[in-house]
Amino acid sequence: MKTGRFYGVGVGPGEAELMTLKAVRVIKDASVIAVPRSADSSVDGLSKALSIVEQVVSLVGKEILELDFPMTRDREALGASRRKAAGAIGAHLKAGRDAVFLTLGDPFFYSTFGYLIPYVRADAPGAPIEVVPGVTSFCASAARALRPVAEAGESVAVIPAAYDMNDIRAALVAFDTVVLMKVNKTMDKIIDILAESGLEDKAVFVSRAGWPGERIVTDIASLRGETLDYFSLIIIRKGRERGMR
Ligand SMILES: C[S@@+](CC[C@H](N)C(=O)[O-])C[C@H]1O[C@@H](n2cnc3c(N)ncnc32)[C@H](O)[C@@H]1O
Repeated sequence: MKTGRFYGVGVGPGEAELMTLKAVRVIKDASVIAVPRSADSSVDGLSKALSIVEQVVSLVGKEILELDFPMTRDREALGASRRKAAGAIGAHLKAGRDAVFLTLGDPFFYSTFGYLIPYVRADAPGAPIEVVPGVTSFCASAARALRPVAEAGESVAVIPAAYDMNDIRAALVAFDTVVLMKVNKTMDKIIDILAESGLEDKAVFVSRAGWPGERIVTDIASLRGETLDYFSLIIIRKGRERGMR
């Protein structure tokens, strides 16, 4: 029997209209839809990715696989959850059914999808794997804030701000624009770094870009002490090329 095809599909950052035509077609044609059920992609217990898709594609008759990915750095626990998820997906692929793994934004930009690939390959060898790119959250945030990410010769760094604060300091020195993802838990430290670097007025904070409840904040210091939403990022653009126009 022909093996099913495994797709990583980016559904964009949250507005259904930002799904690509290819994403819609691939999701329509697949019989199995897999979604992560971890804190990083769920909103009030619902999969955000699924709620975007439901606005455009009928899910009636499709099997929805809700997969658990714990938010942990424990390698064994991560490996076990990925193996289990790949087993659930692989069972459908081996039965000839196409399966789609939904990702907010783009599947190859800080997504679980990339980690799943070797496990799915091991579980269902020979199943073709394809990626449908999506609009990333930082591009959507830049659009909502009406701020270009980079122009002309400007360089860009993207840093997940949940880890080493020195990476942020170094990037702010070396790059013209720095995008900080996952800023919700380290905001106060980021505010300090921006103040140290004199870059507070170059930063914009965007939360839930394009969703109801979206926030766009340019007075970054005003966010000190707040409990912030996981779906938040900051774009800092020093603007090297401004004077060249
Ligand atoms: C695990 S990463 C996923 C990135 C996603 N694959 C993409 O292409 O943008 C999660 C981080 O993306 C950012 N993010 C995702 N959706 C967002 C949105 N609608 N508005 C602002 N930031 C968002 C936040 O920084 C969040 O912590």
